[in-house]
Amino acid sequence: MRVSNEYTLRIVPTAADLARSAADVVSETIRDKPDAVLALPTGSTPLGMFTELARRARAGTTDFSRTRFFCLDEYLGVSKEDPNSLTGWLFREFFTPAGVSAAHVHTVPSEPADAEAEAQAYEDTIIRAGGLDLAVLGIGANGHIAFNEPGSARDSRTRVLDLTPESRDQAAAYWQGTFPAPSRAMTIGVGTLLDAAKIVLMASGEAKAGILHAALRGPISPAVPASLLRPNPEKLIVIADAAAARDL
Ligand code: F6R
Repeated sequence: MRVSNEYTLRIVPTAADLARSAADVVSETIRDKPDAVLALPTGSTPLGMFTELARRARAGTTDFSRTRFFCLDEYLGVSKEDPNSLTGWLFREFFTPAGVSAAHVHTVPSEPADAEAEAQAYEDTIIRAGGLDLAVLGIGANGHIAFNEPGSARDSRTRVLDLTPESRDQAAAYWQGTFPAPSRAMTIGVGTLLDAAKIVLMASGEAKAGILHAALRGPISPAVPASLLRPNPEKLIVIADAAAARDL
């Protein structure tokens, strides 16, 4: 483990180690504060962490019965029942297998009548819950965190934004069904994430090595949104497997 004046960096050998290490941060957060408020990502990176956390929940070693959850982001125009829904994905991969009550899960409005008002309401709900105790994040190939695309401001809040062609391509690779991958999403903002008591940024695989290096060692700039998490020595824990940490 390396502690710098900008973040704590844990480099672990494999993706399986990354899953356990990130799951440990979640379990410790809940052990210290059973009714903690967590924000969770979707994607390939956190899959192993969710499998491990669901296993711990079934084994009774991590108790999510009082934990409150916020989904990080969602495509606009995609209902929760749609196979492409990020919310639906979180229920399939984590909430349901971990036995988390749907009453404890806040989902990003995906079909808002008034996007601005509903984004503000989501932000207000986080504040009313006491703020995030832990935000768990992956990093996109273009450096996005949640769906805060390049150009996102450090003080941005929950909002609707246009996805970049890179993020649309990333979504299209998994997309099922007849209509094309959407071009807009609602996301928790960078500022909302920075207000969390603790932030875990996960990166796995060689394909993330370049962007992780840019995020941690490059200029702090909205051009690479993950870099905006720095400097944050008290809050930010970066967990990377050896392949993603290749250039660090
Ligand atoms: C999705 C999210 C995104 C992903 C990022 C990495 O809810 O928040 O920021 O974390 O796109 O995705 P994977 O892990 O699939 O490489």
